[in-house]
Amino acid sequence: MDKLIITGGRAISGEVRISGSKNSGLPILAATLLADAPLHICNLPHLNDITTMLALLRCMGVGVTIDEKMCVEVDPTSINDFTAPYDLVKTMRASILVLGPILARHGVANVSFPGGCAIGSRPVDIHLRGLEAMGAEIEVDEGYIRAKSKGRLKGAHIFMDTVTVGGTENLLMAASLADGKTILENAAREPEIVDLCNFLVAMGANIEGIGSDTLTVYGVEKLNGCTYSVMPDRIETGTFLTAAAAARGRVMLKDTDQHMLEAVLLKLEEAGAHISTGPDWIELDMKGNRPKAVSLKTAPYPAFPTDMQAQFTAMNAVAEGTGTVIETIFENRLIQIHELNRMGANIKLEGNTAIVTGVEQLKAAPVMASDLRASASLVIAGLVADGQTVVDRIYHIDRGYECIEEKLQLLGANIRRVPS
Ligand code: EPZ
Repeated sequence: MDKLIITGGRAISGEVRISGSKNSGLPILAATLLADAPLHICNLPHLNDITTMLALLRCMGVGVTIDEKMCVEVDPTSINDFTAPYDLVKTMRASILVLGPILARHGVANVSFPGGCAIGSRPVDIHLRGLEAMGAEIEVDEGYIRAKSKGRLKGAHIFMDTVTVGGTENLLMAASLADGKTILENAAREPEIVDLCNFLVAMGANIEGIGSDTLTVYGVEKLNGCTYSVMPDRIETGTFLTAAAAARGRVMLKDTDQHMLEAVLLKLEEAGAHISTGPDWIELDMKGNRPKAVSLKTAPYPAFPTDMQAQFTAMNAVAEGTGTVIETIFENRLIQIHELNRMGANIKLEGNTAIVTGVEQLKAAPVMASDLRASASLVIAGLVADGQTVVDRIYHIDRGYECIEEKLQLLGANIRRVPS
C-alpha cells in the first residue's frame, strides 16, 4: 500500500483546478442504466471510486469507452447481467446506486448487500422500503439484495424518515421510469442531487421540485441518450480551502462554484479567511495569519457538510482558541481525532462531539488513514506539522481525490508518494 510523505511548514500558495464531483459522477453513471441509447458523461474525476463504478458497469455487459479527457461513452443497451457482485460492492458502497436503475429498466436486480464502513453502519433500509412502495419484491439472500417487479414499477408517495443522499438518488432514478407519479418527501437537497436531477431531465425525465426537499417525478416510458458534464467537486474545493486556511496560505481554485458550499465558506471567513469569488473560481487568503478556531455542527445540505468535518477538525487543531465540532450524520466519523492527538493535537472526544483546543504547532508522526475524509485531515495536519509525517493506507484518499499530491505540490507543499 502506498504512503504519502509530507514535510510540513511550507507556505501553501498557488492555483489548482478542481475536478468533477465524485459524489455526482457516481449516481450519474448509475443513472445511465435507465437509458435506451448511449450517453456521454464528461468532467468525471480520475479516481478509484469512479473507475470502480465503470468496472461495475462493464461487468454487467455495459459498453464503456473512455477518451483522453476522461469523457466516458456509456452504452447501456448491451447490458446482459443484472448483478452487482460482492467483490466490487465491497470496495465501494455506492454500487448500491445501480439497484434502482436496473430494477426500473429491467424488472430484476441482484446487488450485493453493502456492508458498513469505518464511519458507520450505513444501512440501506430506506432505499429498499421505497422500492417496495413502488411495487418491487425484495429479499436479502446470501448477502445479496434480490429485487424484482412484475412489469413497470408504480409511482408512490414516499416519506423518507431520515434525510438520505443515496436513498433519494436510488428512488429518484427508479421513479423516473415508474408508471405514474412519485412524490419523495424529506428528500436530500445536496447539490449532487440537483446535478442528478438535471442529468435525468436531460435524458427526458419529468421532475418537479428540483433543489427542494419534496421531489415529484412523473414516470416516463423511456429515457434517451444525452451528453452531460458533471458538476465540480465541492468537497475537494472545501478540502483545499481548509488546507490553505490551516497553513496560513493563499489558494486560487478554478473550475469550481461558490454556491455549492456556502456554509463552508462562511465558516472559513469566521476562521479569519479573506475569500473572494467569481463565476467559476474561489480565492482564499489568510494573509499569513493563524486561523481562529470555529465551532460547527454537521447536518444535511444546506447545513455544514459531514464530508468537511474532518478537515475542519484538523484546521481547528492548529487554530487560535477552542472549537466544538459536532457530528450528527454518522455514528463513527470522529475517528481521525486519535491520529491527530498522536501528532500533538489537543482534542477531547465526548460522544459525537470533539472539543478542539488549538496548539501553535503539531508534530510530525507516522499516522494511518481510516476513511476518505479522515485521510484528508491527516494530510492537512502533515502540511502544518513540524517534521516529516508519513500517512499510511492512502488507498482511502485515492478513492476520493484526483492526484492529491500533484495538486498540493502545485500549491508549494513538500509531499510525495512512496510505494510501501
Ligand atoms: C453520501 O453517502 C455520500 N456518498 C457521503 O460521502 C456523504 O457523507 C453522505 O451522503 C452524507 O452527505 C456518496 O454520495 C457516494 P446517506 P450516503 O444515505 O448516501 C442514514 C464521501 O466522503 N441512512 O445520506 O451513503 C445513514 O446511516 C462520502 O465522499 C439510513 O438510516 O449517505 C446516515 O446516518 C462518505 N437508512 C444518514 O442516513 C438508509 O436507507 C445519511 O446517510 C440510508 C441512510
